[in-house]
Parts: sequence; structure tokens; C-alpha cells
Amino acid sequence: MFEHLGSLPPDPILGLLASYRADENPCKIDLGVGVYKDEAGHTAVLQAVKEAETRLLQSEETKAYIGPAGTPGFNSTMQELVLGAGHPALEDGRVRSAQTPGGCGALRILAELINRAKAGTTVWVSDPTWANHVPLLGNAGLKIKSYPYYDRASNRLLFDQMVEVLKAVDEGEVVLLHACCHNPCGADLSREQWKVLAEMASKQGFTPFVDIAYQGFGDSLEDDAYGLRLMAESVPEMLVAASCSKNFGLYRERVGLAMVIYINGGSADRGHSQMLSAIRGNYSMPPSHGAAIVESILTDAGLKANWEAELTEMRARINSLRAGLVEGLTAADAGGDFNFICQQKGMFSFLGISPEQVQQLQKDFSIYMVDSSRISIAGLSSRNMEYFCKAVASVL
Ligand code: LMR
Repeated sequence: MFEHLGSLPPDPILGLLASYRADENPCKIDLGVGVYKDEAGHTAVLQAVKEAETRLLQSEETKAYIGPAGTPGFNSTMQELVLGAGHPALEDGRVRSAQTPGGCGALRILAELINRAKAGTTVWVSDPTWANHVPLLGNAGLKIKSYPYYDRASNRLLFDQMVEVLKAVDEGEVVLLHACCHNPCGADLSREQWKVLAEMASKQGFTPFVDIAYQGFGDSLEDDAYGLRLMAESVPEMLVAASCSKNFGLYRERVGLAMVIYINGGSADRGHSQMLSAIRGNYSMPPSHGAAIVESILTDAGLKANWEAELTEMRARINSLRAGLVEGLTAADAGGDFNFICQQKGMFSFLGISPEQVQQLQKDFSIYMVDSSRISIAGLSSRNMEYFCKAVASVL
């Protein structure tokens, strides 16, 4: 049965991990997968998570099934984190959500829901977008098209070109947007640009699908959700995939939320029954542990304050690394203007070097990054910054 199957190359992002781990160079640097690291290069469990987990272990009384939608408490607290308490869509009773295995689970289930509403619907994704968006949405049956978003030569957002292409998007089609900390380029839409897109969505009747995987990593929990919340006030229907991997550091626990804003309560109930059936026919129900941690943090004022402080610290460290990187590249005479790195947000930026130069960095210096030259900034530190900047200067 399987003999005729050919082998595929490793995943462009996850595949780097194996090569990095096998590398014995003590100077090796991992800038591949988007995982936060502290100054010592360690991805520690957040203190707020540890505390919530300790409490949970003491209070948990059963391991019985939680059902396809997950825990109602997690879903409602996450809805408020993303939309803001008292958002009109929540007040109107038009929002339904399900706890999912990570942001990936949310993206996939929402894609299946769209496909149930209209098979083969076109979803427009940014060029570039996160590599896994395409299989997650495409394998559910959606047709993928792309709109211009970022110019690698000038390192800037292509907003006018984006708008020009999106003007042709029809009613009933879907446009995927990154709420903040664009993955892979780090270039985010301004408030003014979100307003333009919200007006277009409302006028043209396309459905926004917002991926919010880095809330709190850009400017703040509130600012990072500005565009998403505005969009949710402007359109009758919208999809949101949220992830708790980065902002709660719960990567391997797989915690996410698939949220849909419907036109009215009746449509919400019908749509939600479809979503639950899609979940049941896929992974049946989500894992419980990580979501229980998030719920416990978000519903306890003390734990929430501690978590927000830790999130602020992660964000500040990434921002100071961005500044240090620009300084370091200038000091190493790398040539060119790298100031764009300081203006970008979140875990990633493109360094702007060729795939050949990326390979050379790996071969000669044991520095690992995705071929597109996307770097996960948190993999840098004061210990390896000079080594990294000199290596980049040498391949340029
Ligand atoms: C990334 O882009 O590196 C992260 O979102 C992790 C992943 O699953 O690709």
C-alpha cells in the first residue's frame, strides 16, 4: 500500500530544529522556529503558568472528556482577551468559539467551516505569509490566492498594491489578515490602514479571517488587537484563529481558539453546530491541560498581573534585541540600512539575504534560519550578537 509513496523534504521551519540539534559547534545559533528564548537561550515555563499548573494539579478532580468545544470558561475568557470585554459582537450574542489544539487547530477547523458553508471558497493570503497557512487552509478544500503585502527589496509594506488587489475580492470570499507581529515579515498594518481594510470588507462583503498568534508581543495586549476589534465592529461576519503558544509560552500544550462572529444568534447556533461536527470528525475534542492553565490565569487577578508582567518582559527583550541587532550589524560593517528591523514587531523579521547566503551561514557558522532569511529574533542574545553580526557581514 505505501510502497509507491515518495519522501518529502522536511518542513521548512520545523526541519531546521533537527539539523540544529545535531550540530556540535558550541557557537551554533538557532533563529529558526518562533519560540521565545531568554538571555541564556532557554525557553522557560512562565512563572504564572507554573503557579496555575500547581493549583490545577491540586484542584483537578477528573480526566473525563471535555467535549468538542472544550471548556466554556476558557472560550469566554479568551473571547474577552481577544475582542475586549463588552465588544458589541459579544453583547449581541453573535460570537461562538471552540477551544482548539493550538492556533493550527483553529485555522484548520475554521477552514473546514468555511468549506462547509461554500466548498472551494477562495481565501486570500498575504505574500508572504506563514508557510503553514497554505496547507492548513488549502488541505481543507479552500482555494488559495495571494495579495501583495511586503517588498523584500525595500523592506516595506506594500499597502497600496494590497488595496488594489483586494478591490477585486468578491462577496463571499475570505481575506486572511495577521492581527499583529506579521509572520514572517514583522511589518504590521497601521490603525489607518486597518480602517481602510475594514471599510473595504464592509463595502465589498468579503469575510475577514484574522490570525492572532502573537497578541502582546507587538505593543501591548490591547494595541495588538486594535485592528481585529475594529474589523469585528465593521462587518457582520468574521473568523478569528487565536493561539496561546507564544504569549502564554504553552507551545507544546497546544492551546488555541477558533472564534466566529455570525450575523445573528440564529445563524450563530447553526454555524456552531457545524463547527462542532467538523471538530468531532477531525480530532474529536481538544486537549484540556493547557487551556485550563490559561483559564486559571485569566480569571485570577493576581496570576493575570504576573502573566502580563512576564509578557511585557518578553516583548521588551525582543525590542531591545532588535535595537542591538541594528547596532551590531552597523558596527560589523554589514553595509545597507537595517533600521527597518527596529520598526518591525514581534518575533520575526527578514534579514534580507539570499537563500545561498542563508545556507552559507549555516555551513560556515552554524547559524540556522529559514531559507527566506526570516529570523526568530529571540534566538539572539548579548552572548551571540557579535558573532552573528560578524558572520552576516562576512556573507554579505
Ligand atoms: C513559526 O512560524 O516558527 C511558529 O509559528 C512555529 C510553527 O509552527 O511554524
